[in-house]
Amino acid sequence: DMSKLWGGRFSSGLDPIAWEYNASISFDWRLAEVDIRGSIAWAKALMKAGVISLDEQQQIVKGLTDVLSEVRSGKFKHEPTDEDVHTAIERRLIELTGPVGGKLHTGRSRNDQIATDFTLWLVEAIDRIDAFVKLVQSALVDRAENDFGIILPGYTHFQQSQPILLSHWWLSHFWPLARDRQRLGQLRERAAVLPLGSGALAGTPYPVDRKFLANQLGLKAITPNSIDAVSNRDSAAEFLFVSTMIALHLSRLAEMLILYTSAEFGFIELSDAYSTGSSLMPQKKNPDTLELTRGKAGTMIGRLAGLLSVLKGLPSAYDKDLQEDKVPVFEASDTLCLMLPVVAGVLRTLEVHPEKMHKALDPAILATDLADYLVRKGVPFRQAHAMVGQIVRRAHDLNLLLNQLPLKEFQKVSPLFEEDVHGVFDFQASIAHRNVPGGTSPAAVQIQLQQARQFLEQH
Ligand code: ARG
Repeated sequence: DMSKLWGGRFSSGLDPIAWEYNASISFDWRLAEVDIRGSIAWAKALMKAGVISLDEQQQIVKGLTDVLSEVRSGKFKHEPTDEDVHTAIERRLIELTGPVGGKLHTGRSRNDQIATDFTLWLVEAIDRIDAFVKLVQSALVDRAENDFGIILPGYTHFQQSQPILLSHWWLSHFWPLARDRQRLGQLRERAAVLPLGSGALAGTPYPVDRKFLANQLGLKAITPNSIDAVSNRDSAAEFLFVSTMIALHLSRLAEMLILYTSAEFGFIELSDAYSTGSSLMPQKKNPDTLELTRGKAGTMIGRLAGLLSVLKGLPSAYDKDLQEDKVPVFEASDTLCLMLPVVAGVLRTLEVHPEKMHKALDPAILATDLADYLVRKGVPFRQAHAMVGQIVRRAHDLNLLLNQLPLKEFQKVSPLFEEDVHGVFDFQASIAHRNVPGGTSPAAVQIQLQQARQFLEQH
Protein backbone atom coordinates (compact mmCIF):
# COMPACT_ATOMS: atom_id res chain seq x y z
CA ASP A 1 0.00 0.00 0.00
CA MET A 2 1.68 3.10 -1.24
CA SER A 3 -0.24 5.51 0.95
CA LYS A 4 0.18 3.93 4.38
CA LEU A 5 0.95 7.19 6.24
CA TRP A 6 -2.42 8.71 5.50
CA GLY A 7 -4.25 5.80 3.88
CA GLY A 8 -7.02 5.39 6.47
CA ARG A 9 -9.74 7.28 4.67
CA PHE A 10 -8.82 5.97 1.23
CA SER A 11 -10.21 2.81 -0.30
CA SER A 12 -7.75 2.57 -3.18
CA GLY A 13 -4.11 3.45 -3.65
CA LEU A 14 -2.85 6.34 -5.74
CA ASP A 15 -2.41 5.95 -9.45
CA PRO A 16 1.30 5.11 -9.91
CA ILE A 17 2.05 8.09 -12.11
CA ALA A 18 0.13 10.38 -9.77
CA TRP A 19 2.20 8.89 -6.95
CA GLU A 20 5.41 9.78 -8.69
CA TYR A 21 4.05 13.23 -9.49
CA ASN A 22 3.19 13.85 -5.85
CA ALA A 23 6.30 12.41 -4.24
CA SER A 24 9.18 14.67 -3.25
CA ILE A 25 11.58 12.04 -1.91
CA SER A 26 13.82 12.27 -4.99
CA PHE A 27 14.83 15.79 -4.06
CA ASP A 28 13.99 16.30 -0.38
CA TRP A 29 16.06 13.34 0.84
CA ARG A 30 18.91 15.76 1.45
CA LEU A 31 16.83 17.14 4.35
CA ALA A 32 17.15 13.81 6.19
CA GLU A 33 19.68 15.04 8.76
CA VAL A 34 17.86 18.23 9.66
CA ASP A 35 14.56 16.34 9.70
CA ILE A 36 15.94 13.91 12.27
CA ARG A 37 17.39 16.76 14.32
CA GLY A 38 13.97 18.40 14.38
CA SER A 39 12.31 15.12 15.37
CA ILE A 40 14.70 14.53 18.27
CA ALA A 41 13.87 17.98 19.61
CA TRP A 42 10.16 17.32 19.08
CA ALA A 43 10.31 14.03 21.03
CA LYS A 44 11.92 15.86 23.95
CA ALA A 45 9.29 18.59 23.80
CA LEU A 46 6.50 15.98 23.79
CA MET A 47 7.99 14.42 26.91
CA LYS A 48 8.27 17.78 28.65
CA ALA A 49 4.64 18.45 27.75
CA GLY A 50 3.61 15.17 29.37
CA VAL A 51 2.47 13.63 26.09
CA ILE A 52 4.97 10.76 26.16
CA SER A 53 6.93 9.23 29.03
CA LEU A 54 10.66 9.65 29.55
CA ASP A 55 11.14 6.00 28.59
CA GLU A 56 9.22 6.52 25.36
CA GLN A 57 11.22 9.65 24.61
CA GLN A 58 14.44 7.74 25.10
CA GLN A 59 13.33 4.92 22.83
CA ILE A 60 12.33 7.38 20.12
CA VAL A 61 15.53 9.43 20.41
CA LYS A 62 17.61 6.25 20.34
CA GLY A 63 15.70 5.10 17.26
CA LEU A 64 16.18 8.44 15.52
CA THR A 65 19.88 8.45 16.36
CA ASP A 66 20.15 5.01 14.79
CA VAL A 67 18.28 6.17 11.70
CA LEU A 68 20.70 9.10 11.49
CA SER A 69 23.75 6.82 11.50
CA GLU A 70 22.08 4.62 8.90
CA VAL A 71 21.45 7.68 6.74
CA ARG A 72 25.03 8.89 7.14
CA SER A 73 26.57 5.51 6.39
CA GLY A 74 24.26 5.02 3.44
CA LYS A 75 22.82 1.87 5.02
CA PHE A 76 19.30 3.27 5.04
CA LYS A 77 18.04 4.31 1.65
CA HIS A 78 14.58 5.54 0.85
CA GLU A 79 12.30 3.39 -1.25
CA PRO A 80 9.95 4.21 -4.09
CA THR A 81 7.08 3.76 -1.65
CA ASP A 82 8.34 6.58 0.56
CA GLU A 83 6.45 9.75 -0.34
CA ASP A 84 8.88 12.22 1.15
CA VAL A 85 11.77 12.51 3.59
CA HIS A 86 9.43 12.84 6.57
CA THR A 87 7.48 9.65 5.87
CA ALA A 88 10.64 7.72 4.99
CA ILE A 89 12.27 8.53 8.31
CA GLU A 90 9.12 7.87 10.31
CA ARG A 91 8.74 4.51 8.56
CA ARG A 92 12.31 3.53 9.41
CA LEU A 93 11.90 4.74 13.00
CA ILE A 94 8.84 2.54 13.49
CA GLU A 95 10.66 -0.41 11.91
CA LEU A 96 13.44 0.06 14.48
CA THR A 97 11.43 0.92 17.60
CA GLY A 98 8.08 -0.73 17.02
CA PRO A 99 4.77 1.05 17.78
CA VAL A 100 6.33 3.59 20.17
CA GLY A 101 7.85 5.31 17.12
CA GLY A 102 4.29 5.98 16.01
CA LYS A 103 3.93 8.46 18.89
CA LEU A 104 6.51 10.88 17.43
CA HIS A 105 4.14 12.61 15.04
CA THR A 106 1.70 13.54 17.84
CA GLY A 107 0.68 17.20 17.57
CA ARG A 108 2.89 17.77 14.56
CA SER A 109 2.13 18.15 10.86
CA ARG A 110 4.37 17.78 7.88
CA ASN A 111 3.50 21.41 7.29
CA ASP A 112 5.35 22.75 10.32
CA GLN A 113 7.87 19.94 9.92
CA ILE A 114 8.93 20.89 6.39
CA ALA A 115 9.00 24.58 7.30
CA THR A 116 11.32 23.68 10.17
CA ASP A 117 13.52 21.39 8.08
CA PHE A 118 13.89 24.00 5.38
CA THR A 119 14.73 26.69 7.93
CA LEU A 120 17.48 24.54 9.45
CA TRP A 121 18.81 23.61 6.02
CA LEU A 122 18.82 27.21 4.80
CA VAL A 123 20.76 28.46 7.81
CA GLU A 124 23.48 25.89 7.08
CA ALA A 125 23.44 26.63 3.35
CA ILE A 126 23.86 30.34 4.07
CA ASP A 127 26.98 29.62 6.12
CA ARG A 128 28.38 27.33 3.43
CA ILE A 129 27.88 29.86 0.67
CA ASP A 130 29.19 32.70 2.78
CA ALA A 131 32.47 30.80 3.21
CA PHE A 132 32.70 30.23 -0.56
CA VAL A 133 32.06 33.90 -1.34
CA LYS A 134 34.84 34.76 1.08
CA LEU A 135 37.14 32.51 -0.95
CA VAL A 136 36.53 34.65 -4.05
CA GLN A 137 36.95 37.84 -2.05
CA SER A 138 40.30 36.68 -0.71
CA ALA A 139 41.44 35.80 -4.22
CA LEU A 140 40.49 39.31 -5.38
CA VAL A 141 42.32 41.00 -2.51
CA ASP A 142 45.42 38.91 -3.11
CA ARG A 143 45.34 39.81 -6.80
CA ALA A 144 44.93 43.49 -5.94
CA GLU A 145 47.95 43.26 -3.67
CA ASN A 146 50.17 41.28 -6.04
CA ASP A 147 49.25 43.25 -9.17
CA PHE A 148 49.78 46.58 -7.47
CA GLY A 149 51.12 49.33 -9.76
CA ILE A 150 49.84 47.89 -13.04
CA ILE A 151 47.85 50.40 -15.11
CA LEU A 152 45.20 49.58 -17.69
CA PRO A 153 42.53 51.48 -19.58
CA GLY A 154 39.30 51.91 -17.66
CA TYR A 155 36.23 51.48 -19.88
CA THR A 156 32.75 52.91 -19.92
CA HIS A 157 30.47 51.91 -22.81
CA PHE A 158 33.44 49.65 -23.67
CA GLN A 159 35.25 52.80 -24.80
CA GLN A 160 38.53 53.84 -23.24
CA SER A 161 37.68 56.39 -20.57
CA GLN A 162 40.39 57.03 -18.00
CA PRO A 163 43.41 55.04 -16.86
CA ILE A 164 42.99 53.04 -13.66
CA LEU A 165 45.06 50.81 -11.44
CA LEU A 166 44.44 47.13 -12.07
CA SER A 167 44.24 46.69 -8.28
CA HIS A 168 41.42 49.22 -8.20
CA TRP A 169 39.59 47.20 -10.81
CA TRP A 170 40.04 43.90 -8.95
CA LEU A 171 38.68 45.54 -5.81
CA SER A 172 35.70 46.89 -7.74
CA HIS A 173 34.59 43.24 -7.81
CA PHE A 174 35.31 42.75 -4.12
CA TRP A 175 32.75 45.20 -2.73
CA PRO A 176 29.66 43.82 -4.47
CA LEU A 177 30.50 40.47 -2.86
CA ALA A 178 30.92 42.24 0.48
CA ARG A 179 27.36 43.53 0.13
CA ASP A 180 26.20 40.02 -0.79
CA ARG A 181 27.75 38.65 2.37
CA GLN A 182 26.04 41.33 4.40
CA ARG A 183 22.79 40.28 2.75
CA LEU A 184 23.52 36.67 3.67
CA GLY A 185 24.18 37.65 7.28
CA GLN A 186 20.96 39.64 7.52
CA LEU A 187 19.01 36.84 5.87
CA ARG A 188 20.43 34.35 8.35
CA GLU A 189 19.05 36.44 11.22
CA ARG A 190 15.61 36.69 9.61
CA ALA A 191 15.54 33.03 8.60
CA ALA A 192 16.52 31.52 11.95
CA VAL A 193 13.00 31.49 13.38
CA LEU A 194 11.27 28.27 14.45
CA PRO A 195 7.92 27.26 12.84
CA LEU A 196 7.64 23.94 14.74
CA GLY A 197 4.60 23.84 17.00
CA SER A 198 2.42 25.49 14.35
CA GLY A 199 0.88 22.12 13.45
CA ALA A 200 -1.01 21.96 10.16
CA LEU A 201 -1.96 25.63 10.43
CA ALA A 202 -3.72 26.28 13.75
CA GLY A 203 -1.03 25.38 16.28
CA THR A 204 -0.52 22.22 18.28
CA PRO A 205 -3.03 21.26 21.00
CA TYR A 206 -0.28 19.98 23.33
CA PRO A 207 1.49 22.37 25.69
CA VAL A 208 4.91 22.06 24.01
CA ASP A 209 7.53 24.60 24.98
CA ARG A 210 8.34 26.22 21.63
CA LYS A 211 11.18 28.31 23.06
CA PHE A 212 12.78 25.12 24.34
CA LEU A 213 12.41 23.67 20.83
CA ALA A 214 14.03 26.72 19.24
CA ASN A 215 16.85 26.50 21.72
CA GLN A 216 17.41 22.80 21.02
CA LEU A 217 17.63 23.56 17.31
CA GLY A 218 19.96 26.54 17.63
CA LEU A 219 17.33 29.07 16.56
CA LYS A 220 16.86 32.35 18.38
CA ALA A 221 13.14 32.99 17.97
CA ILE A 222 9.77 31.32 17.35
CA THR A 223 7.20 32.28 14.75
CA PRO A 224 4.37 34.48 16.08
CA ASN A 225 1.56 33.15 13.85
CA SER A 226 0.94 29.49 12.99
CA ILE A 227 -0.83 30.22 9.68
CA ASP A 228 1.99 32.46 8.50
CA ALA A 229 4.54 29.95 9.80
CA VAL A 230 3.38 27.16 7.47
CA SER A 231 2.95 29.44 4.43
CA ASN A 232 6.09 31.50 4.80
CA ARG A 233 8.75 30.89 2.17
CA ASP A 234 10.31 34.37 2.37
CA SER A 235 13.68 32.94 3.33
CA ALA A 236 13.70 30.63 0.33
CA ALA A 237 12.89 33.55 -1.97
CA GLU A 238 15.47 35.79 -0.31
CA PHE A 239 18.03 33.02 -0.51
CA LEU A 240 17.39 32.79 -4.24
CA PHE A 241 17.64 36.56 -4.58
CA VAL A 242 20.98 36.75 -2.79
CA SER A 243 22.23 33.71 -4.73
CA THR A 244 21.19 35.46 -7.92
CA MET A 245 23.02 38.63 -6.94
CA ILE A 246 26.17 36.64 -6.18
CA ALA A 247 25.97 34.86 -9.54
CA LEU A 248 25.22 38.13 -11.28
CA HIS A 249 28.27 39.79 -9.74
CA LEU A 250 30.48 36.89 -10.78
CA SER A 251 28.90 36.99 -14.23
CA ARG A 252 29.92 40.62 -14.71
CA LEU A 253 33.46 39.82 -13.66
CA ALA A 254 33.44 36.80 -15.99
CA GLU A 255 32.24 38.89 -18.92
CA MET A 256 35.21 41.25 -18.58
CA LEU A 257 37.72 38.45 -18.08
CA ILE A 258 36.42 36.67 -21.19
CA LEU A 259 36.97 39.84 -23.19
CA TYR A 260 40.41 40.39 -21.70
CA THR A 261 41.51 36.86 -22.67
CA SER A 262 40.76 37.47 -26.36
CA ALA A 263 43.81 37.96 -28.64
CA GLU A 264 42.70 41.54 -29.40
CA PHE A 265 43.05 42.47 -25.73
CA GLY A 266 45.42 39.82 -24.41
CA PHE A 267 45.36 41.49 -20.99
CA ILE A 268 45.11 38.18 -19.17
CA GLU A 269 45.60 34.50 -19.81
CA LEU A 270 43.68 31.79 -18.02
CA SER A 271 45.51 28.85 -16.54
CA ASP A 272 45.12 25.55 -18.38
CA ALA A 273 43.39 24.26 -15.26
CA TYR A 274 40.41 26.49 -15.98
CA SER A 275 40.30 26.48 -19.78
CA THR A 276 39.08 24.02 -22.33
CA GLY A 277 39.98 23.21 -25.89
CA SER A 278 38.12 22.85 -29.15
CA SER A 279 37.33 19.47 -30.68
CA LEU A 280 38.16 20.93 -34.09
CA MET A 281 40.49 23.92 -33.80
CA PRO A 282 43.80 22.94 -32.21
CA GLN A 283 44.79 26.50 -31.34
CA LYS A 284 41.74 27.20 -29.18
CA LYS A 285 41.91 27.82 -25.45
CA ASN A 286 38.41 28.69 -24.39
CA PRO A 287 37.25 30.40 -21.18
CA ASP A 288 34.39 27.90 -20.70
CA THR A 289 34.44 28.16 -16.92
CA LEU A 290 33.75 31.89 -17.15
CA GLU A 291 31.13 31.45 -19.84
CA LEU A 292 29.32 28.93 -17.66
CA THR A 293 29.44 31.44 -14.83
CA ARG A 294 27.76 33.98 -17.08
CA GLY A 295 25.23 31.41 -18.30
CA LYS A 296 24.42 29.97 -14.89
CA ALA A 297 23.70 33.47 -13.61
CA GLY A 298 20.91 33.54 -16.19
CA THR A 299 19.52 30.23 -15.00
CA MET A 300 19.70 31.56 -11.45
CA ILE A 301 17.45 34.50 -12.35
CA GLY A 302 14.94 31.98 -13.69
CA ARG A 303 14.89 30.08 -10.40
CA LEU A 304 14.14 33.27 -8.47
CA ALA A 305 11.41 34.29 -10.92
CA GLY A 306 10.02 30.76 -10.78
CA LEU A 307 9.64 30.61 -7.01
CA LEU A 308 8.15 34.10 -6.83
CA SER A 309 5.59 33.02 -9.42
CA VAL A 310 4.71 29.93 -7.39
CA LEU A 311 4.18 32.03 -4.27
CA LYS A 312 2.30 34.96 -5.70
CA GLY A 313 -1.27 33.61 -5.86
CA LEU A 314 -1.24 31.09 -3.05
CA PRO A 315 -4.15 30.91 -0.66
CA SER A 316 -3.57 30.98 3.08
CA ALA A 317 -1.51 28.34 4.91
CA TYR A 318 0.00 25.24 3.29
CA ASP A 319 -0.66 24.21 -0.28
CA LYS A 320 1.25 21.56 -2.17
CA ASP A 321 2.50 24.24 -4.54
CA LEU A 322 4.97 25.01 -1.77
CA GLN A 323 6.76 21.74 -2.48
CA GLU A 324 8.08 23.51 -5.58
CA ASP A 325 10.33 25.62 -3.33
CA LYS A 326 12.94 22.91 -2.82
CA VAL A 327 14.44 22.20 -6.22
CA PRO A 328 15.31 25.80 -7.17
CA VAL A 329 16.83 26.46 -3.76
CA PHE A 330 18.87 23.24 -3.78
CA GLU A 331 20.00 23.86 -7.34
CA ALA A 332 20.96 27.45 -6.56
CA SER A 333 23.03 26.25 -3.64
CA ASP A 334 24.68 23.44 -5.62
CA THR A 335 25.45 25.83 -8.46
CA LEU A 336 27.12 28.37 -6.18
CA CYS A 337 29.09 25.67 -4.36
CA LEU A 338 30.81 24.98 -7.70
CA MET A 339 30.76 28.43 -9.27
CA LEU A 340 32.43 30.20 -6.35
CA PRO A 341 35.44 27.90 -5.94
CA VAL A 342 35.88 27.78 -9.71
CA VAL A 343 35.95 31.57 -9.99
CA ALA A 344 38.33 31.76 -7.02
CA GLY A 345 40.58 29.26 -8.82
CA VAL A 346 40.43 31.21 -12.08
CA LEU A 347 41.46 34.37 -10.22
CA ARG A 348 44.31 32.74 -8.34
CA THR A 349 45.83 31.09 -11.38
CA LEU A 350 45.36 33.57 -14.21
CA GLU A 351 48.32 35.41 -15.65
CA VAL A 352 48.27 39.17 -16.11
CA HIS A 353 50.08 40.78 -19.07
CA PRO A 354 50.89 44.32 -17.89
CA GLU A 355 52.72 45.19 -21.13
CA LYS A 356 49.55 44.47 -23.16
CA MET A 357 47.54 46.65 -20.80
CA HIS A 358 50.06 49.43 -21.12
CA LYS A 359 50.22 49.16 -24.89
CA ALA A 360 46.46 49.44 -25.12
CA LEU A 361 46.45 52.85 -23.44
CA ASP A 362 45.56 55.49 -26.05
CA PRO A 363 46.86 58.94 -24.98
CA ALA A 364 43.33 60.25 -25.76
CA ILE A 365 42.34 58.52 -22.51
CA LEU A 366 44.00 61.56 -20.87
CA ALA A 367 41.65 64.08 -22.52
CA THR A 368 39.95 64.75 -19.18
CA ASP A 369 43.36 65.49 -17.67
CA LEU A 370 43.98 67.91 -20.53
CA ALA A 371 40.75 69.75 -19.69
CA ASP A 372 41.83 69.83 -16.03
CA TYR A 373 45.12 71.42 -17.19
CA LEU A 374 43.08 74.33 -18.57
CA VAL A 375 40.89 74.38 -15.46
CA ARG A 376 44.02 74.89 -13.36
CA LYS A 377 44.72 77.93 -15.53
CA GLY A 378 41.31 79.38 -14.70
CA VAL A 379 39.22 78.18 -17.68
CA PRO A 380 35.67 77.12 -16.68
CA PHE A 381 35.44 73.35 -17.08
CA ARG A 382 32.64 73.51 -19.66
CA GLN A 383 34.82 75.67 -21.96
CA ALA A 384 37.89 73.53 -21.30
CA HIS A 385 35.87 70.47 -22.30
CA ALA A 386 34.91 72.10 -25.61
CA MET A 387 38.51 73.19 -26.34
CA VAL A 388 39.95 69.75 -25.68
CA GLY A 389 37.20 68.32 -27.87
CA GLN A 390 38.53 70.44 -30.74
CA ILE A 391 42.05 69.24 -30.04
CA VAL A 392 40.95 65.61 -30.06
CA ARG A 393 39.23 66.16 -33.40
CA ARG A 394 42.29 67.91 -34.83
CA ALA A 395 44.58 65.03 -33.82
CA HIS A 396 42.11 62.61 -35.32
CA ASP A 397 42.01 64.57 -38.61
CA LEU A 398 45.81 64.69 -38.77
CA ASN A 399 45.94 61.00 -37.96
CA LEU A 400 48.10 61.68 -34.90
CA LEU A 401 47.90 60.41 -31.37
CA LEU A 402 46.87 63.13 -28.96
CA ASN A 403 50.35 63.40 -27.44
CA GLN A 404 51.93 63.67 -30.92
CA LEU A 405 50.06 66.84 -31.80
CA PRO A 406 52.51 69.77 -32.08
CA LEU A 407 52.23 72.55 -29.51
CA LYS A 408 51.22 75.05 -32.17
CA GLU A 409 48.05 73.06 -32.83
CA PHE A 410 47.20 73.25 -29.13
CA GLN A 411 47.86 76.95 -29.15
CA LYS A 412 45.54 77.50 -32.11
CA VAL A 413 42.75 76.41 -29.76
CA SER A 414 44.00 78.34 -26.73
CA PRO A 415 47.16 80.38 -25.98
CA LEU A 416 46.94 79.00 -22.44
CA PHE A 417 48.55 75.80 -23.69
CA GLU A 418 52.28 75.99 -23.03
CA GLU A 419 55.31 73.74 -23.35
CA ASP A 420 54.37 71.99 -20.08
CA VAL A 421 51.20 70.58 -21.66
CA HIS A 422 53.19 67.51 -22.64
CA GLY A 423 53.55 66.76 -18.94
CA VAL A 424 49.84 65.92 -18.96
CA PHE A 425 50.53 62.82 -21.05
CA ASP A 426 51.54 60.73 -18.11
CA PHE A 427 49.29 57.85 -17.13
CA GLN A 428 50.90 57.55 -13.69
CA ALA A 429 50.29 61.22 -12.99
CA SER A 430 46.68 60.94 -14.13
CA ILE A 431 46.11 58.10 -11.68
CA ALA A 432 47.97 59.81 -8.84
CA HIS A 433 45.71 62.87 -9.22
CA ARG A 434 42.62 60.82 -8.39
CA ASN A 435 43.53 60.72 -4.77
CA VAL A 436 40.06 61.09 -3.29
CA PRO A 437 38.95 58.28 -0.93
CA GLY A 438 37.63 55.54 -3.21
CA GLY A 439 39.66 56.87 -6.16
CA THR A 440 42.26 55.07 -8.23
CA SER A 441 45.43 56.76 -6.93
CA PRO A 442 47.97 54.33 -5.47
CA ALA A 443 47.58 55.92 -2.04
CA ALA A 444 43.79 55.68 -2.13
CA VAL A 445 43.90 52.10 -3.37
CA GLN A 446 46.30 51.18 -0.56
CA ILE A 447 43.74 52.45 1.93
CA GLN A 448 41.03 50.54 0.07
CA LEU A 449 43.12 47.39 0.28
CA GLN A 450 43.34 47.83 4.04
CA GLN A 451 39.57 48.29 4.19
CA ALA A 452 39.06 45.12 2.19
CA ARG A 453 41.43 43.16 4.45
CA GLN A 454 39.62 44.56 7.46
CA PHE A 455 36.27 43.43 6.04
CA LEU A 456 37.66 39.91 5.66
CA GLU A 457 38.90 39.92 9.23
CA GLN A 458 35.51 41.00 10.53
CA HIS A 459 33.35 38.82 8.28
N1 ARG B 1 6.76 17.18 0.70
C1 ARG B 1 6.04 18.29 1.24
C2 ARG B 1 6.73 19.59 0.84
O1 ARG B 1 7.82 19.54 0.40
C3 ARG B 1 5.98 18.18 2.72
C4 ARG B 1 4.78 18.79 3.32
C5 ARG B 1 3.58 18.02 2.91
N2 ARG B 1 2.42 18.45 3.60
C6 ARG B 1 1.22 18.07 3.20
N3 ARG B 1 0.21 18.47 3.89
N4 ARG B 1 1.05 17.32 2.16
O2 ARG B 1 6.18 20.66 0.94
